[in-house]
Amino acid sequence: MFTYTARPARIVFGHGTLERVRDEVERLGRSRALVLAGPDLAESGDRVEKVLGPLAVGRFDGAAMHTPVEVTEQALALLREAGADCVVAVGGGSTTGLAKALAVRTGVDQVILPTTYAGSEVTPVLGETADGVKTTRSSPDILPETVIYDVELSRELPVPIAVTSGVNALAHAVEALYSPDANPVIDGMALDAIERLARGLRGLAEDTLEARTELLQGAWLAGTCLGAVGMGLHHKLCHTLGGSFGLPHAPTHTVVLPHVMAYNAAAAPDAMRRIADALGATDAPTAVYDLIVEAGGPTSLQELGLAESDLDRAAELATAAPYPNPAEPTRDGVVRLLRRAWAGERPAPTGVSVLDQLTAQVVSTFDGTPDPRLRVLLQDLVPRLHAFAIDNDLTQDEWQHGIDFLTRTGQICDATRQEFVLLSDTLGLSSVVDVLTNSRTPDTTPSAVLGPFYVDGPPELEQGADIAAGMPGTPLWVDVLITDTDDKPVAEAVVDVWQSNEDGFYDVQLPDLEGPVLRGRLRTDRDGRLRFWSILPSAYPIPSDGPVGAMLAATERHPYRAPHLHFMIAAEGCRRLITQLFVVGGKYLDSDAVFGVKDDLIVNFEPRTGPTPDGRAVDGEWRRLDFTFQIARR
Ligand code: BEZ
Ligand code: FE
Repeated sequence: MFTYTARPARIVFGHGTLERVRDEVERLGRSRALVLAGPDLAESGDRVEKVLGPLAVGRFDGAAMHTPVEVTEQALALLREAGADCVVAVGGGSTTGLAKALAVRTGVDQVILPTTYAGSEVTPVLGETADGVKTTRSSPDILPETVIYDVELSRELPVPIAVTSGVNALAHAVEALYSPDANPVIDGMALDAIERLARGLRGLAEDTLEARTELLQGAWLAGTCLGAVGMGLHHKLCHTLGGSFGLPHAPTHTVVLPHVMAYNAAAAPDAMRRIADALGATDAPTAVYDLIVEAGGPTSLQELGLAESDLDRAAELATAAPYPNPAEPTRDGVVRLLRRAWAGERPAPTGVSVLDQLTAQVVSTFDGTPDPRLRVLLQDLVPRLHAFAIDNDLTQDEWQHGIDFLTRTGQICDATRQEFVLLSDTLGLSSVVDVLTNSRTPDTTPSAVLGPFYVDGPPELEQGADIAAGMPGTPLWVDVLITDTDDKPVAEAVVDVWQSNEDGFYDVQLPDLEGPVLRGRLRTDRDGRLRFWSILPSAYPIPSDGPVGAMLAATERHPYRAPHLHFMIAAEGCRRLITQLFVVGGKYLDSDAVFGVKDDLIVNFEPRTGPTPDGRAVDGEWRRLDFTFQIARR
C-alpha cells in the first residue's frame, strides 16, 4: 500500500527566470517582500531587489546553517518592522530554511530562488536548531508557494560545490527508490533525476550550460522525491555526521552515498538495478563512487575532518532508534560501512558477492573470442550455469554426481549410440531447437527430431516396394505427395524412411537380423508422389540401459515414444526436411518421452479391409496413410 500527496507548489524553470520574480510575487497577490540572500549572494540579492522594485520592503542576508532560532528571531523582527507579506529567498538550503521558518511563524508566502541542488525548496519540512538541539517538523504551511529555478543564477555555484550538491540531490532520488512509501510517480521522478544528475555531474568538467540545466532539473525532481517519501540510512547517517560531528552537509552526502548503497544493495536489488540502468552501469554503488571520483568530489570522511575514533559513536547514534531501511542498520554493519567511507575505499561491487565477481570474471575471459556468435553463446551460458548452481545452492556432492552422470553419458557413446543426443531429447532441448527451426519456415510441414536410429545410405527401393520385407505386423500402404510451399509437386525428391518393428525395435537394435529392414530410400515420381508398403509402427521405449534410462527411472518417467514413421526428404533446390508422422489414437501421444509430437504431424493411418491399391493380397485389416509434405525452396 502507499499514499501519495501531490504538493501544490508552482515551479518556474528556465534561463534568466530571476527576471520573473516581481510577476511571481504579484501573482500571489503580494506586494511587500522581505528579501533574504544567502551567504556570498549579496549581489544576487541586489538583482532580486532591483527586479522587485517597490515591492522589496526589506533585506536580510544573515541566514545560517541548521536554521538557528536566534537568527530566525532577528529576521522575524525585520519582517514585522517592514510589514512584509511575503519572503523572497535567493540562496541554498540555509536561506530556504530561514524562509520556511518565517512562513511557519507568520503565514507569509514564500518565493524561493534556489542556488544549490539541496532540494528543500520543494519539501514541506523544516529543521531548526535551538540551544544546539535540532528538531524537524513537517507541515503544508512550510512548503514554499513558488520556486523560481534560474539556470543562470545556479551557474554562480562553484564547480566543487556543484559536485557535492549534485550528489546530495542524487541521494534523495536513490533513497526514494527503496523507500517504504515508494510509488510509481516518485519512482519515475527519481529515475529521471538520477539520469539528469549523472549527466550534469559528468558535464561539470567542462561546466556547460547543458550540465547546469540537467543538474537543476535533477535537483528539482530529487527534491520532490525527498518531500514525498521517507528517507533511510543514508539520510540518517548524514544528519548524524552533520549534527553531532559538524561535518559539512553536501560533502558528507557525497562520501557516504556509495557506501550506504553498497550496504543496501542485496536488500534492494530491484532499486539497485534500476539505478544502475539509469546510470548506464551494471553495479549501482560502484557506479556512483566512480561518478564522484570522475567529477572530483570528496571520497573519504577523513578528508572531511572526521576522526577515526568517532566512527563507533557515529554508528551508535545512527542506529540508536529503528527506522525503515532495506537492510537493517546494525551497529556493526554501520561501523564497517563508516570505516570504508572514512578510508575512502571504493565499495565492493554490490555487497552481493564474490559470486557475482567470479561470474563477471569468467564472462570477461571470453571478451576476446574472435567468432562473435561463439562469444555471445559462451558469455550467456556461463552466467546461466552459475545462476543454476547459486539459485539451487548446489553442494559439492551434487556437482560430483552431475559430473559422474555426464562422464557415464560420454562413456556409453559409440558409433551407433549417442547418449548425449538422447539426453538432449529427453530434456526437451532437441525439440526446443526443432521448434525454433520450424518457426523460421512456418509454411512448411513441421520437422521433428532425427533420433538415434537413422542410418545413412539406406537400401534404394522401387515405388511400391515393401520395406517390411515380410516382418510380422499390420500391413501399411503409404501414399505421400511432396510439394513446395506453392503446392507444386517436387519430382525426384530423395526420401529416406525408417521405423521400428512390431515389437518396438529398429533393425540396428537386432544384431541377429540380416541386413537393413524397415528402412529404405525412395524417389518421388514426376507428380511428386511416392508409394510403398510397410507395417503399422508401434510405440517403443527409447534406449534405457544407460544414464538417460537411469534418469528416467529416478524421476519415474516412462521411456516410450508414441508410434511414428520417420521421413527425411531431400530435393534439388529445396531445404531438407526431417520429420515424423504419428499414428492418430496411438499411445503416448501426450507423453512422448522426447517431446517430439506436434499436432500437425498426428495423422490418420486409416484402417481398411478388402482390395489394396496395388492389388496385393492382404488377409484382414490393413492400414492406409495419405499425406502431403510441403517443403521449402531454398
Ligand atoms: C526416434 O524416434 O527414433 C527417437 C528419437 C529420439 C530419441 C530416441 C528415439
Ligand atoms: Fe523413432
